[in-house]
Amino acid sequence: MAIDVQSGPGGFAGEVRGADLERAGDFSAIHRAFLDHGVIVMRDCSLTPEAQIAFSRRFGPLMGRRPSTPDKVLMPGLPEIVILSNRKVNGETVGITDAGRYWHSDLCFEEKPNMATILHAVEVPPEGGDTLFADLQQAYETLPDTLKSRIDGKRAAHTFRKHYLEVMAAGSPRPPLTQEQFEALALNYHPIARTHPETGRKTLFVNPGHTTEIEGMDEAESQDVLDALFEHCLQPEFIYRHQWKAGDTVIWDNRRVMHNAEPYDMDRYTRHMHRSCIHGDKPY
Ligand code: SIN
Repeated sequence: MAIDVQSGPGGFAGEVRGADLERAGDFSAIHRAFLDHGVIVMRDCSLTPEAQIAFSRRFGPLMGRRPSTPDKVLMPGLPEIVILSNRKVNGETVGITDAGRYWHSDLCFEEKPNMATILHAVEVPPEGGDTLFADLQQAYETLPDTLKSRIDGKRAAHTFRKHYLEVMAAGSPRPPLTQEQFEALALNYHPIARTHPETGRKTLFVNPGHTTEIEGMDEAESQDVLDALFEHCLQPEFIYRHQWKAGDTVIWDNRRVMHNAEPYDMDRYTRHMHRSCIHGDKPY
């Protein structure tokens, strides 16, 4: 069967059909679709954790343990897989129960943020739990000139601490970080408009979850510019909504998109996902 990509509006988000994640010869077509569309969806994948790790490694080295991820949510024996889940075993949750319920880009607060995320759905709720993706390449390309000139050459600060403290204060059931992990969470500055190292296109690299301030601006101006950027990025024409089915594997390019996982009824339904993350470069 030939590999075929059905693209979403504006070329953002594509469904790749006829490719097999475990067939080495299919990788270049999958990688091309990933660069062209920012988010790619593959349906009906029966992907074991070992096969997910082997496939993920074709993109590059995996992120492995991070200070922002409690050890308890790593798959036993396979720490390259983070479990996102509300499943309980012996009364204990096995994964991050409320991961990603806000607009963010994975691990953008690291010096070398995550390049790609691969999320495989093992069990999904019949309603709720969709993931939204915003295309920050189209957002940059359509930014009004007045706003573009305000961010020209500027960097913004990114941190995980703010979000972590907020969710824990709100009573998150996720396992807490150790004091050592919390202290190891760094603050990093990245260009607000970054150049995608593989496509050469410019994208915005800010998100409401982790971007806290713009370097060299006072607090009020910084917030004003960030709010204007977020409002621009979150226009419906830049957004793809993924409604999960069990067996879906979705791969997204964190250099081009931010995402947001919607809640679902955790008392009635189970959502169990396997996530692997690929190392990226220092943004420029
Ligand atoms: C994440 O932010 O990595 C979680 C996304 C999701 O569970 O849909």
